[in-house]
Amino acid sequence: MKTVREVADLRALVSAAKRSGQTVGFVPTMGALHAGHVSLVARARGECGLVVVSIFVNPLQFGPGEDFERYPRKEAEDRAALEREGADLLYSPDPRTFYAPDFSTRVEVGKVSERGEGGIRPGHFRGVATVVAKLFHQVQPDAAFFGMKDLQQVAVIRRMVRDLDFPIRIETGETIREPDGLALSSRNAYLTADERQVAAGFPAALFEARDRVAAGERDSGQLEADTRLDLKSAGLVVDYVEVVEPESMAHPRRIERGCRLAAAVRVGKTRLLDNIALLEE
Ligand code: PAJ
Repeated sequence: MKTVREVADLRALVSAAKRSGQTVGFVPTMGALHAGHVSLVARARGECGLVVVSIFVNPLQFGPGEDFERYPRKEAEDRAALEREGADLLYSPDPRTFYAPDFSTRVEVGKVSERGEGGIRPGHFRGVATVVAKLFHQVQPDAAFFGMKDLQQVAVIRRMVRDLDFPIRIETGETIREPDGLALSSRNAYLTADERQVAAGFPAALFEARDRVAAGERDSGQLEADTRLDLKSAGLVVDYVEVVEPESMAHPRRIERGCRLAAAVRVGKTRLLDNIALLEE
C-alpha cells in the first residue's frame, strides 16, 4: 500500500489506475480505524480495482468545545490494518495545508441536514459535506462507501451527490457491533469501564424498540417515548430519539416499511450515535 499526502501524487496514481481500466473505490475516514471502517474497505476491495482510503480529522465538522483536539490519531496502526485488508492507497493529507488559510467555500445541504444531528450540532453537516465534496474532487472515485451507522450523513452525501451531479455511486455498509450490541466507534475509546457497561443499554433499547414494532407498534411518538424511558432508566442522557425515513430524514407519524429509529445519547462526556431498521423493506 502506498501512502500519499499531496493531491498531485494522489491524482497521478488514480489517473494511472483509471487509464489501465481499473475502477476506483473510495472510503473516507477520520482514522482510528476499527472493524466498522474495515468492513467498508473490504466492500470496496470486493468491488473495485483500486481501493483508496483517506484519513483526515476534519476540523470543519467539529463544533467549538467538541473533541477535535483529543480525537484519536493513530496512523501507524491504521496503516497496518489497511495493509491487512488489501487497500492500495492511503491518502493522508497534511492538516496544515489541506485547507488554504483563506479557504472560504462551504457546501450546505438543506432539509436533510436540519433535524437530528444537524439540530444538535449546528454546522456539522456543512463541515462533512464540504470535506466530502473536496475529497471527491481530489480522488474522483467511481464508488464511495459509507456506514449506515451515520444514517443522516448518508442522507446528506446522497443528496449532495444528486444535487451537484457528482458521477459517483454511493454504497452503504451495515453497522458493525460489539458482541453486546454497541456500535463500533472511534469515540468508544473515551469510555471508562463503568461507562462502557452503561453504554450497552443503548443498543439494548434500540433492539427493544425493534421488538415493539415487530409486536405491532406503529405510532412513532409512542415508540420514541418508550425508548426514551428505556434509555434514561439505563443511565443514559438522551439528545434525541426519532423515527426517520432514511432518504429524506423526514419524521413520519406512523412507522412504515423502511423507517429507522435514530438516536444520540451521552454517557459522561462521550456522545454515542446509533440507529436501527424498524420494518425492513
Ligand atoms: P469516521 O467516523 O471515521 O467514519 C468513516 C466511515 O466509517 C463512515 O462512513 C462511518 O459511517 C463508517 N463507520 C463508523 N462506524 C461504523 C460501524 N460501527 N459500522 C460500519 N461503519 C461504520 O464519518 C466520518 O468519519 C467523517 O464524517 C467523514 C465521512 C470521513 C468526513 O470527514
